[in-house]
Amino acid sequence: MLWKTLIVCNLVLIALGLTPTPPGPEPQGSNPAFSQAFNLPESIKRGKDLYIAECMSCHMENGEGLPGVYPPVAKTDYVKKPSAHLIDIILKGQEGEVVVNGVTYNTPMPAQAYLDDEKTSDILNYIRNSWGNKGAAITPSDVKKQRDKIK
Ligand code: HEC
Repeated sequence: MLWKTLIVCNLVLIALGLTPTPPGPEPQGSNPAFSQAFNLPESIKRGKDLYIAECMSCHMENGEGLPGVYPPVAKTDYVKKPSAHLIDIILKGQEGEVVVNGVTYNTPMPAQAYLDDEKTSDILNYIRNSWGNKGAAITPSDVKKQRDKIK
């Protein structure tokens, strides 16, 4: 029947007219997920400036220290040692006799606990990966864990 055909045609036209043309915006959040993984090379890079500002006055530019007064941080067991102890040295300082690479030191090192978790991790990653040192990453959450433990 003609009227039925017309109605169907109208419905089709209305349907077409009502179908919104997709404006084609970029779907939200289409970027690949931002990586939260700890980036060791970036941390080492940041750590260099922090080391120069916070540690170099005693441990010297190339980590060689000042023989008999300030121990080196280049190629020392303390820097290579398990990270919890190393983090403690920064958070609590270090006092009393300490033998570093066969030389005895007995000058107190003041605590550097004012450095936040990220800065502490950056500095330690820098000294653990400079001047021939090679150490696994110490993350800000490693530092936080240690800070909470000694509170
Ligand atoms: C005021 C001088 C001074 C500053 C600043 C200082 N230290 Fe020390 N540090 C010392 C002394 C002195 C010792 C040895 C302490 C002792 O005799 O018991 C030491 C010991 C250490 C040790 C353990 C022994 C070794 O040499 O391996 C590490 C690691 C270390 N410092 C890292 C750092 C880092 C990292 C910073 C910067 C955040 C820093 N220190 C800032 C004076 C300093």
